[in-house]
Amino acid sequence: MPSTRTIEVLATPADLFRGAAEEFVRLGRSAIGAQGRFAVALSGGSTPTNLYSLLAENYADFAWARTFFFFGDERHVPPDHPDSNYRMAHEALLAKISIPAENVHRVRAENPDAAAAALEYEDELRRFFELAPGELPRFDLILLGLGSEGHTASLFPDSPALDQQSRLVVATRVAKLNTDRITFTFPVLNRAAEAMFLVSGAEKADIVRQVLRGASTPPLPAQRVVPDDGKLVWMLDEAAAARLSR
Ligand code: 6PG
Repeated sequence: MPSTRTIEVLATPADLFRGAAEEFVRLGRSAIGAQGRFAVALSGGSTPTNLYSLLAENYADFAWARTFFFFGDERHVPPDHPDSNYRMAHEALLAKISIPAENVHRVRAENPDAAAAALEYEDELRRFFELAPGELPRFDLILLGLGSEGHTASLFPDSPALDQQSRLVVATRVAKLNTDRITFTFPVLNRAAEAMFLVSGAEKADIVRQVLRGASTPPLPAQRVVPDDGKLVWMLDEAAAARLSR
């Protein structure tokens, strides 16, 4: 199935998160119906927090027991650190829903050795998806955000992680943030059944235009998310989409 790209523009941030929650639940119900489980990789940063809260508030009766959460990337901090993507998702969603603890696969980012934490997480992916050597995990849904310079997950411009083709998860140094990150690689992102970008706010309008309308050389990291056998969905609010038509 060739990959398809759809761009959905919702009027307000509230409409955006409502639409994203509905898409999450629609996908989840169809994945659970088809294969008995829903494997999701969560994104970090600030944008998805509202989606996670809405899922907890409006979908308490969703089949969380059949849902398995991973993280597309993580900051190299302990799970109780304010910068932790796990902490954000835990407070907004995971702590509020009835999901077995073993269904939540977080990065052990408290490990002082980021590369070791990435390897451990890669092994956890291989075990969960029962991968044969060289096989890639197929998430039902990978949620993604967009950084101001075009990064997604923790795949930043000029990062050696961009060209990683054999690893599933790597540690990467982000010089401008003076920190390490642990991130899925493009082979994992592009194996997803659906990759969904969730982008909100006027401050993202320029980069959204560059990514969706521009032709950067080399391509911006977010432009390299092209599922080889799945759907690419961009969910934007009007403020983030404001420069698309110009
Ligand atoms: C992270 C994210 C990152 C994020 C973008 C957008 O850990 O920070 O995974 O890729 O999605 O930086 O962040 P905002 O939603 O905060 O703008």
